[in-house]
Amino acid sequence: MLKPEIELALNKQINLEFSASYIYLGMALYMDAEHLPGFASWMVAQSDEERTHARRLLRYMLDRNGNVELNSIPKPKVEYDSIKAVFEASLEQEKNNTESINNLYALASDLNDYATQAHLKWFLDEQVEEEKSIIDILGRLEIAEDDKTAILILDQALGGRSGGSGDAISIGEE
Ligand code: FEO
Repeated sequence: MLKPEIELALNKQINLEFSASYIYLGMALYMDAEHLPGFASWMVAQSDEERTHARRLLRYMLDRNGNVELNSIPKPKVEYDSIKAVFEASLEQEKNNTESINNLYALASDLNDYATQAHLKWFLDEQVEEEKSIIDILGRLEIAEDDKTAILILDQALGGRSGGSGDAISIGEE
């Protein structure tokens, strides 16, 4: 059985992951409006990933006989000042998420909940990867500056992200 404090924290984390998914979808809409299908596709893939993170936690709670609460998620932003501003916001979001996972891990440790700690290990590794990939893109945007050709090349490169739909805003397989 999950302790109530852990149950509450896991439900909050599930909400954070679903909210992140929605925020990335809002970012995809911005990229699509800017005629950048590769960036949009990258954001859609990221949005999909966040949903899988939420479901991974949800599955874990069910496996431990926990009570899952699906709380409401805020309306995401769809307007940004620039491509760079989108990735800066995305990095900020991932840093907050890392902090939230760290706090959850610390709570599980304080309460001697070894199974939750083991489950969260995957999330700790994933956060390192996610922050790194966003920092890499921000670095490339820095190099490209206002060079439109460089931005289009980057757009093409990001469109090739595995796990993405390969299309700007796609509804997936029919
Ligand atoms: Fe679910 Fe972006 O971390």
